[in-house]
Amino acid sequence: MAMDDTRVRDQLIEAFVNAEGPISGEELSHRFGLSRTAIWKHIKSLEPLGFVIEASPRVGYRAVHIPDELMAPLVRPHLPPDCLLGSPILWEASRASTNDTALELAQKGLPHGAVITAGEQTGGRGRRDRAWASPRGGMWFSVFVRNPCPLRHAPDLTLLAALAVCRALRHEGVPVEIKWPNDLLIRGRKTGGILAQIRAEGELVDHAVIGIGLNANFPIDLLPAEIRHRATTILHETGRPIHRPKVLARVLTELDRLYRDLRDGRGFQVVYDEWIALCSTVGQEVEVAVGDERLRGKAREVLPDGSLVLETSPGVTRTVVSGEVLFSDREQV
Ligand code: BTN
Repeated sequence: MAMDDTRVRDQLIEAFVNAEGPISGEELSHRFGLSRTAIWKHIKSLEPLGFVIEASPRVGYRAVHIPDELMAPLVRPHLPPDCLLGSPILWEASRASTNDTALELAQKGLPHGAVITAGEQTGGRGRRDRAWASPRGGMWFSVFVRNPCPLRHAPDLTLLAALAVCRALRHEGVPVEIKWPNDLLIRGRKTGGILAQIRAEGELVDHAVIGIGLNANFPIDLLPAEIRHRATTILHETGRPIHRPKVLARVLTELDRLYRDLRDGRGFQVVYDEWIALCSTVGQEVEVAVGDERLRGKAREVLPDGSLVLETSPGVTRTVVSGEVLFSDREQV
């Protein structure tokens, strides 16, 4: 779809969201400077996206069903006006990977705060080069930030993103927890993950793409069979769907505050107690990949700098900086 079509689409959706009653074809044609036939075609193109638009002769168009896709006109009404994240929000029904799109657009001047979203991903990527199943109904998005922090604080980008997601989901009553450093679990099963990719110039992070995936409103059988025993979806766990645009707005609002603090030199340490209270890793047997090495042991403690203390054998501990995991893949946090 050409850029202009996308803009008309989003403005049309916005008009339907704000309308208190039917809007006539004539009024829309006047507002958009397009023929009534062109308006009709644009309205028709909303149907495959899940919109149900009722057309009554001589009265006009009315949206009788608006889907909960992560589209700008559906997310923006839930964002506070001073939020620096969420402008623009670029949605497509299908993308290979929202992180890939963000990295591509980063070279073309994508502004700080842009969010790339998708109805589904056909090449979703997880950490350590794993595929990430991304069917329709999930939340697949990447937040783009410029100059977020010094390189030594790069691990904070994901630690804080996990906290933002937890806050947003808990606000909706979803009992989500964090598995160090940035997996999201419900009752011990993975329901979300974060893949951050950074570009650094010397000691500074020039820009970062924080990719967040949440298994939200789809049945568990859409997940690959081989991960179904350890992964889950919010719908499966709670029995009810979440309103995805509202949840995205809440994640962005929380993340905006946390990243502003990070820029001002107040990162993970400031939210340490809250983060620890949400983290279910301590006391568990875990396996951590550090470079080519796989460390197994009991997670003893997460330190105020975000690193994990692992007891690899009785009385022997190793401290794993999430940055070590981070840079083992060069650019993946
Ligand atoms: C993990 O392995 O736990 C991280 C998963 C990250 C998935 C998200 S979905 C949106 C963004 N686009 C991608 O291709 N990956 C991330």
